[in-house]
Amino acid sequence: MKFAGAHILSVDQFERADIEQIFSVADIMEPYALRRKVTRVLEGAILGNMFFEPSTRTRVSFGCAFNLLGGEVRETTGFKSSAITKGESLYDTARVLSGYSDIICMRHPESGSVAEFAGASRVPVINGGDGANEHPSQALLDLYTIRKEVRDKGRSLDGLRIAMIGDLKYGRTVHSLIRLLSLFKDLQVILVSPDALQMPEEHVEHLRQAGHQVLVSSDLTNSIGHVDIVYSTRIQEERFESSDEADLYRGRFRLNQAIYTQYCEPNTVIMHPLPRDSRAEANELDSDLNQNPNLAIFRQTDNGLLVRMALFALILDVVDQVELSSRPVNWYRQRE
Ligand code: NCD
Repeated sequence: MKFAGAHILSVDQFERADIEQIFSVADIMEPYALRRKVTRVLEGAILGNMFFEPSTRTRVSFGCAFNLLGGEVRETTGFKSSAITKGESLYDTARVLSGYSDIICMRHPESGSVAEFAGASRVPVINGGDGANEHPSQALLDLYTIRKEVRDKGRSLDGLRIAMIGDLKYGRTVHSLIRLLSLFKDLQVILVSPDALQMPEEHVEHLRQAGHQVLVSSDLTNSIGHVDIVYSTRIQEERFESSDEADLYRGRFRLNQAIYTQYCEPNTVIMHPLPRDSRAEANELDSDLNQNPNLAIFRQTDNGLLVRMALFALILDVVDQVELSSRPVNWYRQRE
């Protein structure tokens, strides 16, 4: 695809070569994300960061990624502080805000809303999550993480074995990830969820049509024995009619160190888009996994910066200039 000026709304836009391109630009971003070097390549540019649903990592990492490239961020969070509560349409909001920004990231509770917004926007729009539909940048950072993790263990994305666990019906991260994975070869995907929260059939069919093996299960321990990746997800309580309904499913698939040791292969990578629900009644990834070197959740969040920087650089067409406007950092850095 042509990235310059493009909206990023769905992973269906990408072919395998596009993914490779995003990942090679993400690799270039590492010294900037690690604060070894500074670049001001987007100096003067403004990101409109519009999040109409709760968000920590996606919102902050999009903002930091833009800042790390030298750009400025203007943020709107929640409907209450926006004129949408006065009845303003997405069309009008998009016309107005796209006059103030060079690029917009948006999260909204309704499926399809970000695409509708993009249709009226005068600048590129990145989907930061539209209801239960998609979360393309998360899927890209997940795939980037999977690639790095398995490469370190001598495997590649082709032939990958992955178990996706939890709320596969409403979880937009797994919807985007499963579609992105279908671009690779000979995958074995095990979909583990309560019966009522199974992966929508269209995504399962899409993967099968692409020649991959798909297994559906409602049993955790029988499903995680022979996989490279365990990708756990949160019950998406905000998509249920009532929290009582979500209570039926919370805590159904808990992974802790004892279960990991007993059932998983020793090198199985543990992932989660976060937030993990750490309340006692859910505790989907126990904190006793924090010392497990295969817990990749914070490598995922770190990689999110690289992938989001890559998207900005590609869409705003400055990849070739990043290096030109770079210099070493001049402040004290504790971490590496
Ligand atoms: C996810 C989301 O918002 O879809 N979070 C994220 O962006 N990393 C997953 C979730 O909220 O459960």
